[in-house]
Amino acid sequence: MSNISVLFVCLGNICRSPTAHGVFEQMVGEAGLQKNITVDSCGTGDWHIGHSPDERSASAALARGYDLSHLRSRQINGSDFGQFDYILVMDKQNLLDVQAMCPSDYPGKLELFLDYANNFSETKEVPDPYYGGLSGFDNVIDLVEDASKTLLSTMKSSLQAGQSKQKQS
Ligand code: 4NP
Repeated sequence: MSNISVLFVCLGNICRSPTAHGVFEQMVGEAGLQKNITVDSCGTGDWHIGHSPDERSASAALARGYDLSHLRSRQINGSDFGQFDYILVMDKQNLLDVQAMCPSDYPGKLELFLDYANNFSETKEVPDPYYGGLSGFDNVIDLVEDASKTLLSTMKSSLQAGQSKQKQS
């Protein structure tokens, strides 16, 4: 089977995208596809480079069975556009920021992660929980789990069809 890679992107890479990273990585492992699907995350900003996920995100994730302790924040860079098949952003500002630095070869790789959501179709954005209450961190996991299931199904279909770069434009 061929390989597929996904990069989850938010602003700080300490709340939403590490949650997506940890949740999706676990689903990929449970599906036995860890050798076929590469998962990573990053932020558009540089404030938290090298930091562990926010404690509130890590605790909310652990309570739902997802361990984020191995993750460290990094900033998106130009080589990511060639390296990853899917670049999935958490909100529309992330999309604008990533589009602004995206080489013209790769715009088809950029999508809102919640384009893959089924149960939460009323919103296309994963709300930033950083300045809010604890329920916001649980909400991030609800949204991420929903979109991750569809994303994994999409990738399984691509792998079965032997398409490794089907998101490339
Ligand atoms: P994230 O949340 O983009 O989901 O990681 C944020 C984390 C940090 C900040 C903003 C949002 N900050 O302003 O430091």
